[in-house]
Amino acid sequence: MLTISDLPRGWGILSLTPREDYFAVWNRIRTEAPVHDAGDGLFLISRWDDVNRVLRDPALLAGSGVAQAFGGSASPVASVVSNWLMSQNGETHRRARALVARLFTPAAVDRLRAVVEICSTELVEGLLQRAEHGPADFVDLVAQRLPSEVIRHLFAIAPAEWAAHVQPLFVVQALQDGDGFAAVKGLAEYFHAKISGAGDRQFGGIIDELRAPDRTGEHLSEAEVIANAVLIVTAAIDTTAGLIANTMLRLLEYPEAMAQVQADPSLLPGAIDESLRHCPSAPSSTRHAPQAMELGGVRIPAGSDLFLSLAAANRDPAQFTEPERFDIHRDCATRLLTFGGGPHFCLGASLARTEVRILFETLFAAGREFRLCAPVAWRQDNLSVRAPAGLLVSCVRPR
Ligand code: HEM
Repeated sequence: MLTISDLPRGWGILSLTPREDYFAVWNRIRTEAPVHDAGDGLFLISRWDDVNRVLRDPALLAGSGVAQAFGGSASPVASVVSNWLMSQNGETHRRARALVARLFTPAAVDRLRAVVEICSTELVEGLLQRAEHGPADFVDLVAQRLPSEVIRHLFAIAPAEWAAHVQPLFVVQALQDGDGFAAVKGLAEYFHAKISGAGDRQFGGIIDELRAPDRTGEHLSEAEVIANAVLIVTAAIDTTAGLIANTMLRLLEYPEAMAQVQADPSLLPGAIDESLRHCPSAPSSTRHAPQAMELGGVRIPAGSDLFLSLAAANRDPAQFTEPERFDIHRDCATRLLTFGGGPHFCLGASLARTEVRILFETLFAAGREFRLCAPVAWRQDNLSVRAPAGLLVSCVRPR
């Protein structure tokens, strides 16, 4: 296993994401160097208390590392990444977040339930037909497709248009040598062509809601509408697909937990939260320190970036008893840091949980037993996401 002195420098830390020993390495970092100077102005933060504190500190700015990840300020997507919520701070962020949050109220999530149910039924039927005759890829047939269909419905984009312009950006195989940059650039061009200069034209989905003023007349600028449309697509699909795949994998690896949730689907919310804690699909977030600060006895100079390992924090034994154990009865919803925390807390957390719950209820209602048919390899094309690149499963009807 890597020692602390062998860790990649600076943002190279993202290259750990697809490693088989990922959690072991991060446990080691948290134990041996919980606030670690990784070089190039980047500090790794991995204890639960520290990560939680940093996420909620309004003096620390969101959006660090984003410019680097997308090619610096000269990049053609710089306007997009600087105008989306995840890069905004203070009053600018509060104003824009209130306008975007209108799309994700409990009532809005509830309205999507029927779409999630119909998609889940179709996808599960397709999976079973294949998996009864041999190994079928759960990621390709189910995990990646459900969140994509849900977001397509949210935007009210026709299937052919979605398939031509958006879906290819999220097909794992098509992105093997790509990166987040290609996806963001493609989406930014697509939404720009669609929205800019559209005047009063209505689109019929959440683009209309993003463009609509609130009761006081506040509204997002056109650049903010485009940027947040891109953000919603990029933030919603791979993360939720990863949660679905990681949950399936954990349940396959822990047959007792699988048997319990299959027998009693009311245990699903606990199992999903434990999957979010144990193997978060979005395992990190970032902040920027404009002023010098001290954390865990380490001085962090002004201008540093902070890399927050949500994965390591979620396995901190100071917060979770026996953190390595996958325990669906743990009741960790309010302590897991997988959706971040503080002013940037994930706006789609409730939608993601709803999708995964309905999908697994549908899967288990079919009454099959599932088997994992091949070892798992981790996604390499999007290092902000830790999830299986594929998950070959077969199924049988129990006797
Ligand atoms: C399992 C699924 C998901 C995970 C693990 C996840 C994780 C995260 C994380 C870690 C953040 C940053 C929080 C911070 O730094 O404090 C975030 C922000 C965000 N997420 Fe999610 N997310 C998921 C699904 C979704 C979905 C389904 C949507 C929308 C449909 C969404 C929309 C957003 C938005 C808009 C933000 C930015 C909020 C802000 O900056 O104010 N996410 N998410």
